[in-house]
Amino acid sequence: MRPKSLVCLVLATFSLFTVALGSQTHRGKWKLLKRSIGISAMHMQLLPNDKIIAFDWKGSGPSNISLPRGKCVVDSETTTDCYSHSVEFDPSSRSIRPLTITTDTWCSSGALLPSGILIQSGGFRLGERVVRSLAPCANCDWVEQKNGLITSRWYASNQILPNGKIIVVGGMNQFNYEFIPKTSTSDKKLYQLPFLEETRYSPFVPNNLYPFLHLTPDGKLFVFANDRAILLDYVNNKVVKNYPVMPGGVSRNYPSTGSSVLLPLILSSNFNNHPEAEVFICGGTAADSNQKANAGDFVPASKSCGRLVITANNPSWKMEQMPLNRLMGDMILLPTGDVLIINGAAKGSAGWNVGREPVLNPVLYRPNVPITAKTSRFEIMSPSPIPRVYHSTAHLLSDGRVLVGGSNPNSNYNFTAVYPTELSVEAFYPPYFSPNVSRPIISKIYPRTNLEYMQRFSMHFHMHQWHEELGKIYVTMVAPSFTSHSYSMNQRLLVLSLDSEAQRVDFSNYVVHVHAPATATLAPPGYYQVFVVHEGVPSKGTWVHIK
Ligand SMILES: *[C@@H]1O[C@H](CO)[C@@H](O)[C@H](O)[C@H]1NC(C)=O
Ligand SMILES: *[C@@H]1O[C@H](CO)[C@@H](O)[C@H](O)[C@H]1NC(C)=O
Ligand SMILES: *[C@@H]1O[C@H](CO)[C@@H](O)[C@H](O)[C@H]1NC(C)=O
Repeated sequence: MRPKSLVCLVLATFSLFTVALGSQTHRGKWKLLKRSIGISAMHMQLLPNDKIIAFDWKGSGPSNISLPRGKCVVDSETTTDCYSHSVEFDPSSRSIRPLTITTDTWCSSGALLPSGILIQSGGFRLGERVVRSLAPCANCDWVEQKNGLITSRWYASNQILPNGKIIVVGGMNQFNYEFIPKTSTSDKKLYQLPFLEETRYSPFVPNNLYPFLHLTPDGKLFVFANDRAILLDYVNNKVVKNYPVMPGGVSRNYPSTGSSVLLPLILSSNFNNHPEAEVFICGGTAADSNQKANAGDFVPASKSCGRLVITANNPSWKMEQMPLNRLMGDMILLPTGDVLIINGAAKGSAGWNVGREPVLNPVLYRPNVPITAKTSRFEIMSPSPIPRVYHSTAHLLSDGRVLVGGSNPNSNYNFTAVYPTELSVEAFYPPYFSPNVSRPIISKIYPRTNLEYMQRFSMHFHMHQWHEELGKIYVTMVAPSFTSHSYSMNQRLLVLSLDSEAQRVDFSNYVVHVHAPATATLAPPGYYQVFVVHEGVPSKGTWVHIK
């Protein structure tokens, strides 16, 4: 009987909490972290050593950061290139280390392996079949593997799988998928996926590139392209479900570019229960807006969002309206389980020089707030001074801030264009940085941070206020994502099941006992950050590893 009551407890805790936060009026704040990191942060990934890896592309010409002496790259595409197109950025010290990439990574994809090594796949021209890896260490640099992919991947999407492999789906004129790194015979095969051809609007305006991928709790792959979705059994190369078309006549993928997240998975301490999985997609624009924008007609982006319970037998889309029109927005899961919608434009399309009216205000979305005449799930946040349009990115940092970078809507580095190439990075501080309750501080994870599936472990934390009454506590586990083109691949947040409620140990020290996720389909092996959330205010994250 214990497991059941705990499920209720966790569910109740989670929704009460977000409602309480809804009354907060603070709208977050912005801080410029660095005026230039030397490149435009068009692709970003946080590594388990808390460094951000960013890269743009070689074709944009000289970047604003040189490679170290003796590291110039000679290649057959240009000639000698002594500029770096990838950097490691440390968000705490704000230092930069130039990295070496010799082939083009333009509009590519990536994922973290269970070992914490970043795998990047594809790109443009000589880079289109390259698989690159970068380990999280002080002096590591990119290692490039030619022909690491069977076919060219430009604008493809990646997802880390329960077996530790990465699935790479689609790309320009690619109606198929494959697995990397290639270690078994099944990895050396290309698997056809006609859905990607069926959802293409036209060869020139595909509206289905960078398809949205989300791993379901039973290990299938939800694939969304344009305005349609399927459930893919990628092991047997079989479409096991066709979802209803998303209403509204809006295209959601590149170049119409909306964004998508898997809402928090609320885990049960009854390990046999699969949690419900719900996808949330926002923004995008009309199917022909790219053609119109190229002809000088910049149509408004969509305000619409949709939620779909992808694990339901007969799911249907529940549509909602954002307070602002937006395409090219990034959707970021905050440690609280709320969703931040940030970056992008209100008119036009993705692509060079075709986005208009940058949307400077992020919007916070609280998934569990009941919709009434007086309450809204959406709240408009403080604006950034810097437009972030095409080729901009956002990424959750361990300390709960959101790093924002990139924006190169021009065919090369251009600092005089109306929307110039942006080399700066900023941090957005969500409202929980101005809390009216104590922020928990994790002091210890017991018995260890190397977790096994189903393992019970304890999070010890303290709060500054002496003998404070404990408010609602829950624990979240967040996978670091690879972000490019408004889509954070592998983004995943689990609300862990409590083994017992949080208690005071002594003075201002507390402990909460939780269970690690039960299976690799819930949480593929690898690195995650865990957060203790107290009355809607998260601690800083601590890295754990699960396998
Ligand atoms: C925090 O402040 C908001 C108003 O800004 C208030 O509604 C809420 O009750 C406060 N929470 C606590 C725990 O004091
Ligand atoms: C790029 O580098 C040049 C030369 O060092 C410098 O003058 C310029 O200000 C830099 N631009 C940006 C946006 O950082
Ligand atoms: C930068 O953009 C402006 C406006 O689009 C254009 O006139 C100029 O030629 C561009 N500069 C470079 C170096 O491409």
